[in-house]
Amino acid sequence: MKTTVTAKERKPIEHIAFIMDGNGRWAKKRGMPREQGHRFGVKAFQSILEHCRDIGVHTITVYAFSTENWKRPEKEVKSIMRLMDRYLSDFEKNMDRYQMRLCFLGDKAPFDAKLRARMEQMEQASKDRERILNIGFNYGGRDEIVHACNRLIAQGVKEVSEDSISGALYTAASSDPDLIIRTGGDLRISNFMLWQAAYAELYFTDVLWPDFGPAELDAAIEEFYTRQRRYGGV
Ligand code: FPP
Repeated sequence: MKTTVTAKERKPIEHIAFIMDGNGRWAKKRGMPREQGHRFGVKAFQSILEHCRDIGVHTITVYAFSTENWKRPEKEVKSIMRLMDRYLSDFEKNMDRYQMRLCFLGDKAPFDAKLRARMEQMEQASKDRERILNIGFNYGGRDEIVHACNRLIAQGVKEVSEDSISGALYTAASSDPDLIIRTGGDLRISNFMLWQAAYAELYFTDVLWPDFGPAELDAAIEEFYTRQRRYGGV
């Protein structure tokens, strides 16, 4: 049901999550290799991060590499790993500008030792920051739930609850997303935040991720404030 929340009644959205789809098509349309699409995808990601900071979004989650993305050509996988490595250097240099706690969602075991160490180092170095940036990297929603259950079993838990599962997910430090945005035209959630998405508002746009900027995010947020969230009530 739609009912617009007036500007005065609006609280900043606490948590926005992004499925950054369409990098490959964006590059292809310009006669570029797919890897270039990801490079421009990182630029879009950085401008969205800045905009989220300016408008007071506390937690941002992005889906950067899924448990299924290993099936992509080796050249493309390597280029995404390189982009992450470069991004982490930038994050380290600009810790004060970002003012965010970095959390990786996903099992880090398959990454090479150097990248894994950098990921852990940046998580550790930023852990006292208030705002959160979650990056799904080797992330899958089903894998996350299985991992959480196995963690609880290893702790000797005999019976699980919604709270115990939430607390064992990679996102334990975050609230559930209020809004999930998928760019690139597909209408599905592709194994993203399956548990956490229970009451999220979903927003789909045909805009390809490298073209998704602050104006597109503002349009999604406008739409969000027209939705009435009832969480199963009336
Ligand atoms: C989906 O587009 C995009 C990805 C699988 C990778 C996204 C990765 C980045 C933007 C770089 C990660 C780094 C950081 C720092 C966040 P697609 O390639 O599936 O697009 P297509 O559907 O047009 O092929």
